[in-house]
Amino acid sequence: MRRFRPYFSYLRAVRGPLIGAIIAGVIYGVASGAGLPWMIKEVFPQIFSEEAARLTNLQLFFVALWLPAIFFVRGVAGFLNSYLIQLSGVRVLEALRLDYFRKLQYLPLSFIQRQTSGDLISRGLADTNQLQFSLTLIANDGLKQPAALLGAVGFLIWAAFNEQGVVLVLICLALIPLCVFPIRYVGRKLLARAHQIQAQLGSVTDRFTENLSAAREVRAFGLEEAQTQRFAVETRGLITYQMKAVKYAQSLTPAIEIISACGLALTLIYAYRAGVRLESFLAIITALYSSYEPIKKLGALNNEVKRGISALDRLEVVLNEPVDITDPADPVPVGRLQGEVHFDGVGFSYRTGDRVLQDITVQIPAGTVCALVGPSGAGKSTFANLVPRFYEVSSGRITVDGIDIRKLRLADLRANIAVVSQEPVLFNDTIFNNLLIGRPGATRDEVVAAARNAHADEFIRQLPRGYDTVAGERGTLLSGGQKQRLALARAFLRNAPILILDEATSALDSQSEQMIQDALRHLMIGKTVFIIAHRFSTIRDASLILVLEQGRIRAQGTHAELYAGNPLYRTLYDRQHPAA
Ligand SMILES: Nc1ncnc2c1ncn2[C@@H]1O[C@H](COP(=O)(O)OP(=O)(O)O)[C@@H](O)[C@H]1O
Ligand SMILES: [Mg+2]
Repeated sequence: MRRFRPYFSYLRAVRGPLIGAIIAGVIYGVASGAGLPWMIKEVFPQIFSEEAARLTNLQLFFVALWLPAIFFVRGVAGFLNSYLIQLSGVRVLEALRLDYFRKLQYLPLSFIQRQTSGDLISRGLADTNQLQFSLTLIANDGLKQPAALLGAVGFLIWAAFNEQGVVLVLICLALIPLCVFPIRYVGRKLLARAHQIQAQLGSVTDRFTENLSAAREVRAFGLEEAQTQRFAVETRGLITYQMKAVKYAQSLTPAIEIISACGLALTLIYAYRAGVRLESFLAIITALYSSYEPIKKLGALNNEVKRGISALDRLEVVLNEPVDITDPADPVPVGRLQGEVHFDGVGFSYRTGDRVLQDITVQIPAGTVCALVGPSGAGKSTFANLVPRFYEVSSGRITVDGIDIRKLRLADLRANIAVVSQEPVLFNDTIFNNLLIGRPGATRDEVVAAARNAHADEFIRQLPRGYDTVAGERGTLLSGGQKQRLALARAFLRNAPILILDEATSALDSQSEQMIQDALRHLMIGKTVFIIAHRFSTIRDASLILVLEQGRIRAQGTHAELYAGNPLYRTLYDRQHPAA
C-alpha cells in the first residue's frame, strides 16, 4: 500500500466525487450488511404477530413495501457510489495519462529510441488504466466492503444467539450463488456491448504512434505542448464512452436487486396467507447474501493491489526516467543567432555503445555550407544531431555564436535551427497546418511562398482540396519526393540561421532531385548549413567538406583540395562518378 502513496495525490483533484462516493458506499454497506436483515426482523413481526390478522389489505401493502424501500435506498446509494468512483477514476486516469504523455514529449530522443513504440503505448494506455482501477478500488472497497461485512456478520452473530436457525443457515449458503450468477451473467453481456470504447482506444493509440514517430519533429519545431493538447482531446472522447459503459453496468445490479426485492415482498404476502413464520429465515438469508459480496470483493482487492503494483512498475520506467537534456538554470537570453558553430574537442557515445564521435574540433563560420561525407556509420548523422541537442555531448563542448549550447534554453536553440531529415514525417492534418509548424505565426501568403520556393506549390494545388487536403497518416497519400518538398517548405518557412539537411534528397528520382537541388540552393543562401548527402553533386560546391571515418575527422577542405589530397575522399567520390 505504501507503494501507491505518491500517486494518491492524483486523488486529491477528485476529492468531491470521491468523498461523495465513499459516503454513498458506507450507506450502501450498512444498508446491505445490517440494515436489511434488521428491517426484516422489524417488519415481519408486524405481519406475523397475533394482531396482524386485523391488518387491512392497504396496511399490509404498506408494511410489505418496507423491503423494496430498503433495496431502493441501497440500490441508489450503490449506484451513486459506483458512478462517482468511476468518475473520479477516469479523471485520475486522464491526469495520469496526460502526465505520461507529456513526459514522453520531453524525454531525450535516445530514450524513445531505446524503447519499442508498442511498449510505450501499452504502458500509456493499459497500465495507466490498471493503475487508476487499482487506486480507486482500494480507496472505495477498502471502506465500503468491510462496513458491509461487519454489518452482516454482526447481525448473524446476534441472530445465532437469539434464534434457532442453524440448519437454515446452511441451506441459505447454498442458495446464495443462485442469486449472484444471473446478475453477473447479464452484467457481462451488457459490458460486451461497449465496443465504442475499443474504437476510441484505437484512435488514442494512433495519436500515440504518430507522435512517437515524429519525436524529432516535435522537438525541432517546439510542438511539445501542442501535441499534448491534441492528445488531451482524444482522451476526453474516450472517457465519454467509458462513462456510458459504467452507466449500463452499474445500473444493472441495483435494478435486478430491486426486482428481486419486489418478488420477495410477494413471497412475504404469500407467507402471511400461508401462516408461516418466516422472519428469522429471511433475515438470516439476507445477512448471508449481504456478506457474500464483501468477501468476494475483498478477495479481489488483494489481486487488484498486485496488478496495480506491476502497472506502476511499468509506468515508472517512463515517469521516473530523468529528463537529462533540459534548460539551464540560468539561460543566456538570445534572439536570432548568427549561426557560427564551433565543435570543441567533442566526443560522444550512445548510452551503451562505443565512442561514436571522438575528438571533433572544427570551426564553422556563420553562413558556411559544411558538407559531411564518409562511409555509412561514420557518425555523420550523430554529428548533425548534436547541434540541436537531440543528444548531449559526452565530452568537449559545442558553441553557437560563442555560447555553449547547454547555456541556451532548448526552445531558443531549436528555434534557430531547421532540420530536414531523410524521412520527413507529416502529421495527419491539412497540408497547410503541416507547413505551418515551421513557423506557427506565419500568414497564408508566407506559407504559400515557402511552398513555392520548395517547388511544392504546383503539386499541392493539384491535390483535391489544395492546401486544405488532409495529408493522411504519416503522409501516405504523398510520394517521397512530395513529402521531401513539404519538409523543405517547412524549413523555408522557419528561415532559421542554421539548417541541417540529413540525406534530405536521398530517396528521390533524378527529376525531382533536380527541382529540389534548385530549391535547396535557394534555401541555403546566407545560412550555416550542415549537409549530409549520398550524391556528391549536392556537396561538391560546399565551402567546407569534412571527411568523417569511424567517428573522427580524417580531412577537411574544399572539393578540389580533398580530391587532390585525400585518398578516402577520392575513393568515395570516384565510386559515384566512374567517368570523372
Ligand atoms: N540511436 C542510436 N543508438 C545507438 N547507436 C547508434 C544510434 N544511432 C547511430 N548509432 C551508431 O552510431 C554510429 C554512427 O551512426 P550515424 O551517425 O548514424 O552514422 P552515419 O550517419 O554516418 O551513417 C553507427 O555505428 C551507428 O550504429
Ligand atoms: Mg546517417
